[in-house]
Amino acid sequence: MKVGLLTGGGDCPGLNAVIRAVVRKGEVRYGDELVGFRDGWRGVLDGTTMPLSVASCRGILPRGGTILGSSRTNPYKVDDGEAQVQATLSDLGVDALIAIGGEDTLGVATKLAAAGVHVVGVPKTIDNDLSATEVTFGFHTAVQVAVDAIDRLHTTAESHDRVLVCEVMGRHAGWIATYAAIAGGAAELMVPETPFDIEEICDKLSARHAKGRFASIVVVAEGATPKEGSFTVSDKGVDAFGHVRLGGIGQQVAEEIESRTGFETRVTVLGHIQRGGTPTAFDRVLSTRFGIGAIDAVHDGDFGTMVALRSDRIERVPLAEGTGELKTVAADLVDVAEVFFG
Ligand code: F6P
Repeated sequence: MKVGLLTGGGDCPGLNAVIRAVVRKGEVRYGDELVGFRDGWRGVLDGTTMPLSVASCRGILPRGGTILGSSRTNPYKVDDGEAQVQATLSDLGVDALIAIGGEDTLGVATKLAAAGVHVVGVPKTIDNDLSATEVTFGFHTAVQVAVDAIDRLHTTAESHDRVLVCEVMGRHAGWIATYAAIAGGAAELMVPETPFDIEEICDKLSARHAKGRFASIVVVAEGATPKEGSFTVSDKGVDAFGHVRLGGIGQQVAEEIESRTGFETRVTVLGHIQRGGTPTAFDRVLSTRFGIGAIDAVHDGDFGTMVALRSDRIERVPLAEGTGELKTVAADLVDVAEVFFG
């Protein structure tokens, strides 16, 4: 078979490990020809490809990013995009496509599968907000990066008796923030799932510091929002999939805390550091298992599915199930973090 691969959306530690696994099992066990599409769906629209082989994938297991490149191109925002995708696949003789991506990339894959394209999805996002899988690869690495940073923030916060706000990624779901808050021993947490009350948070910080305990680490997810009426967050426009560009809530929270409590407050925005660099061992294993699961699904003709981790087994679920509903953080997990506040 000739099997195409693409990586779409924001990059994520473990993408190369998925590619390597697909190529290894495809070439060696199934005798496939593997072809990589450059820069997500853009490469499928344009027919821009690169050959993939066991030899060309050597050394990529621990490498961050994606050797294929990525973009947020949406074929359904392009005139005749769906027809262009089908034309490229048929011109190149590609029998099946493995799409590695998050909500947007797999959303496109879901529509293409409904239109008859032979596609299998692999769930990727550091945000861990895809349904149907217990975890997405990249999440574990992002959490580790955030916790390493928070461990460092603790010592400087203690030295200066400061409040340090740490902004982490998490557009619609506070998975990274909640795990980082629990593992990093944060004093406060703000997630997109529940609008936060800045006054209440400041009162709790004041009470904590009144007890003679300083150095509060406040973890805020980039998508967290204040309760209506408390203060306004800045607007930075939208991207190709219509998502609001985020960034800046940490700074605003820090300013509010300093002005309302009088405590010296600083902010650290971790940003793309959470997405770059080498994947953790956990993510390398998960990515490898997903890659093997995806090429097996292709050879079983199980198209329109996505590989998923369930009870530590790799299973296949309909693509639509993975992208249909956002997986948000359960309140009881936030409750665990809250036990340590104050
Ligand atoms: O991949 C998801 C994500 O990491 C979000 O948490 C974040 O909002 C977004 O990507 C930012 O991506 P970019 O800067 O590439 O647009």
